Amino acid sequence: MQVIHSVAELRARLAQERSIAFVPTMGNLHAGHVALVEQARQQGKCVVVSIFVNPLQFGPNEDFDKYPRTLEADCEKLQGSADIVFAPAVAEMYPEQQSFYIELPPIASELCGMQRPGHFRGMATVVLKLLNLVQPQVALFGKKDYQQLEIIRQMVTQFNLPVSIVGGETVRAIDSLALSSRNQYLSDEERTEAPQLHLTLAQVGASLGRGVRGFSALEDEAMEMLAKRGWQVEYVSIRCQQGLGKPKVNERQLVVLAAARLGVTRLIDNLEVCL
Ligand code: PAF
Repeated sequence: MQVIHSVAELRARLAQERSIAFVPTMGNLHAGHVALVEQARQQGKCVVVSIFVNPLQFGPNEDFDKYPRTLEADCEKLQGSADIVFAPAVAEMYPEQQSFYIELPPIASELCGMQRPGHFRGMATVVLKLLNLVQPQVALFGKKDYQQLEIIRQMVTQFNLPVSIVGGETVRAIDSLALSSRNQYLSDEERTEAPQLHLTLAQVGASLGRGVRGFSALEDEAMEMLAKRGWQVEYVSIRCQQGLGKPKVNERQLVVLAAARLGVTRLIDNLEVCL
């Protein structure tokens, strides 16, 4: 496995490859990332993993500075499954101030976009840059970041980018908490409470499965349940899987998404419900 820090070296190395599978990450890798890289490996292509904490997608009061940077440990986890790790410094990715951005559709201002203005714009901009640099045939993203994945799919379709986007299933701890680099910010007490986010989504999913169709009432009930347990809830929202619009009552491919804070830690999760 080769670790590359510069764009010039990456381009020179990838010129030898005809077929690339790409997993973009911000590092601090956990089993969810490793599963994506293994899924990439199965494509029989050269596997490139990027590790880059992208300043453009963090708001001024967010955790850019404290986001865990663990390159050495990450590389150990990737030995045997990745061929190339691309880990550029901020000045390598943004040698001049980035003044061109992707302009995003309205869906990027809803759900997580409500509380994190500019987040998806910064995310989409770096993903476009990374896809241009790596030029993969396939790129893999986790479904835990469901809205991110949908925005990337739409961007790739609308800009005719020659890459297939694949969504990897969310990997969970034994108690159902979705794995996330941010879970390590949780205190012991918060970590015990954290699986309630997924359990609440599962209850909404079960109600949908029983034929309940009052979407707003289900959302309100779920938010109330979490708030009573001490969560600061941003949203629980039932959406169409495709496009993430608000569903009609007869929609069968639904996803329940949520974002909520436990103390200072913001957690997101989602559950696909196919009726
Ligand atoms: O999901 C992530 O880790 C990041 O948002 C991504 C896609 C690597 C872009 O920085």
